Amino acid sequence: MIFLENIGVTYKDRTVALQDVSLQFLSGEFTVLLGSSGAGKSTLLRCLNFLTIPTKGQVRVEGLGTLNDPKILRRHRQKTGMIFQQHQLIPRQTALKNVLIGRLAYHSTLRSFLPLPKKDQIIALEALDRVGLLNKALTPVKQLSGGQQQRVGIARALAQQPRFLLADEPVASLDPGSSHKILANLKKICQEDGLGAVVSLHQVDLALDYGDRIIGLANGSILFDSHPSNLQTEQLERIYQHSPSMKTV
Ligand SMILES: Nc1ncnc2c1ncn2[C@@H]1O[C@H](COP(=O)(O)OP(=O)(O)OP(=O)(O)O)[C@@H](O)[C@H]1O
Ligand SMILES: [Mg+2]
Repeated sequence: MIFLENIGVTYKDRTVALQDVSLQFLSGEFTVLLGSSGAGKSTLLRCLNFLTIPTKGQVRVEGLGTLNDPKILRRHRQKTGMIFQQHQLIPRQTALKNVLIGRLAYHSTLRSFLPLPKKDQIIALEALDRVGLLNKALTPVKQLSGGQQQRVGIARALAQQPRFLLADEPVASLDPGSSHKILANLKKICQEDGLGAVVSLHQVDLALDYGDRIIGLANGSILFDSHPSNLQTEQLERIYQHSPSMKTV
């Protein structure tokens, strides 16, 4: 479980991105963050592994402690997989080599210059298998489609053998069919492994289909936090009231 306790983020240019946010994220729960552009979704996600360090409050991880301690942060990051909108893959490297990057957190910097042990290679291949890409293991990722590249990104996060997955708009650049396939795959893996997932999305219909819990943000504050069945038009209007590009259910 991850606890955000009275978190605030004010960036150097004085932009207030999050205000007094207190939330708990459970293992095994698939949480979707919704909100218009600039609402604070990425900032909130990045606070969960201190890629953005909150300027107020603290982040506590059950069984570890608060992330201000560098040793605790390192152990927490090792067990927290991150999936990005633009995949952040190395295009000329094979899918397998990219997935092996997920294993680096388990090795010293020096060791990572050498080929990783067989055990790591097997974990990486298993991760590729789970996203249906074992047959592309030796293909450079620049030769894969956008959806396949995102699956490599997911496999890299899985190779970390995480407890939590954080995904920032993982399907933003994909067509609706591929988006459904990716989210269904991701959710199934989370259920099988009992992983907690926090996923930001711009599509309300996908949030309703896959979220166990939806958190709606606007202007850095939480406006909604409940089961998707409780998300009515009225709440959606409040969440997206400042957005000209509101997507409807
Ligand atoms: N590094 C930064 N420095 C200054 N301000 C920032 C920085 N990153 C984000 N912001 C600002 O913080 C606020 C929240 O941004 P954030 O990226 O968390 O929103 P978001 O909900 O993820 O938006 P989007 O849907 O466009 O990705 C915005 O006003 C944004 O301009
Ligand atoms: Mg964002």
